[in-house]
Amino acid sequence: MSHSHTHITPTPTNLATNPGSIPVGVLGATGTVGQRFLVLLSAHPWFVVRALGASPRSAGKRYADAVKWKQTTPIPSEYRDIKVSECKPEHFEGCKIVFSGLDADVAGPIESAFRAAELAVFSNSKNYRRDPNVPLIVPYVNPSHLSIIPQQRLLHSPPLNRGFIVTNANCSTTGYVIPLHALEKAFGPLDCVMVTTLQAVSGAGYPGVPVLDIFDNVVPYIGGEEEKIEWETLKILGGVVPSEPEDGQVQAAVPAGFKLQKFDMHAAHPLRVSASCNRVPVLDGHTECVSVRFARRPPPSPQQVREALAAFSCEAQTLGAPSAAVKVIRVHEEPDRPQPRLDRYFQDGAGVDVGRVRQCPVLDVKFVVLSNNVSIGAATSSIINAEVAVLKGVVPV
Ligand SMILES: NC(=O)c1ccc[n+]([C@@H]2O[C@H](COP(=O)([O-])OP(=O)(O)OC[C@H]3O[C@@H](n4cnc5c(N)ncnc54)[C@H](OP(=O)(O)O)[C@@H]3O)[C@@H](O)[C@H]2O)c1
Repeated sequence: MSHSHTHITPTPTNLATNPGSIPVGVLGATGTVGQRFLVLLSAHPWFVVRALGASPRSAGKRYADAVKWKQTTPIPSEYRDIKVSECKPEHFEGCKIVFSGLDADVAGPIESAFRAAELAVFSNSKNYRRDPNVPLIVPYVNPSHLSIIPQQRLLHSPPLNRGFIVTNANCSTTGYVIPLHALEKAFGPLDCVMVTTLQAVSGAGYPGVPVLDIFDNVVPYIGGEEEKIEWETLKILGGVVPSEPEDGQVQAAVPAGFKLQKFDMHAAHPLRVSASCNRVPVLDGHTECVSVRFARRPPPSPQQVREALAAFSCEAQTLGAPSAAVKVIRVHEEPDRPQPRLDRYFQDGAGVDVGRVRQCPVLDVKFVVLSNNVSIGAATSSIINAEVAVLKGVVPV
């Protein structure tokens, strides 16, 4: 990876001895995802929150007065009296990173303004997930996609030295691509995937789905969700490959010797994904029933799949990202697990649970995944993505 700044690449050791060394801000700090960011950042060994941003409705108020706090722990005391700012880069001076939990209706131009002001933006919103120069990263799966950042900076007008945007995935994509990636790592490419989701209400933000729609009910439709899962899976599980300049304008911006790249959307082995999404009356924790077919024949047995999932480890762990789960995938042997109420706090919501691994009579193997949509499905992923970016030297600190 090339980047234009010379600096000492941090290691877990030198960051651990210098806690609180990286100033950060939170955009959308009053929202569901923003609150979760603040809880996680309050205890973070490196990141210190210096600024909180929300809408003009909240700007100017004390954080404790602006927020409808919905977490099970109290507002961390250090945030209560911070004056909420409008989401403009001039209010975030000194911050190197901003985490964004902004409403998707406003996230696009705001996140782009922070990138243009040379900040590293780690976003939960969907706005830039399909941008060909923005990586869509699930931290246990594809942090290698950070290699596109020099190109994102170079092709920005004007070119940037430090600013960039990284997005994380939709919460239901995040949960199930982790075991899918573990399986591809162990057994080679997948050929097709069928996934049926049972998604918690907190995934819709606050106040979310009306109680009269969801109580005693299942809603077999979540707008845009199936398409997001089907598309995001290909970007995340696919590779980054060399590409040619597409038009004269791009070519003009690319210095000789710079190697352009693109996301291949799993093109080396085309992968078909079919998703069916349902909203269920569960507060937190998305359950997903997954069937897969492997390209390789004969496919692995359910027992081999179980062992591969349980043995999975990844770069975020070996690099020493402090918020990464110690164990990313827990495999259950009990026939009736995982369950949201019992399993959603595994690894403080940073891990995923898999159970019911068995033969699929139509594809090859089927299983159930449970992931915490407000933790690994949202803020926790962004924070681990930022930790990995720091450890890889992508964020100069
Ligand atoms: N909920 C989840 O589990 C989840 C998971 C993954 C991704 N996401 C995505 O994350 C994003 C946030 O979701 P959420 O559920 O946290 O939403 P939310 O609870 O509605 O919070 C939205 C935040 O955006 C701020 N905002 C609204 N209008 C603004 C404006 N004009 N300028 C600046 N800030 C503005 C709000 O500030 P005020 O309080 O001042 O209005 C609030 O802080 C969405 O894009 C969502 O799709 C959510």
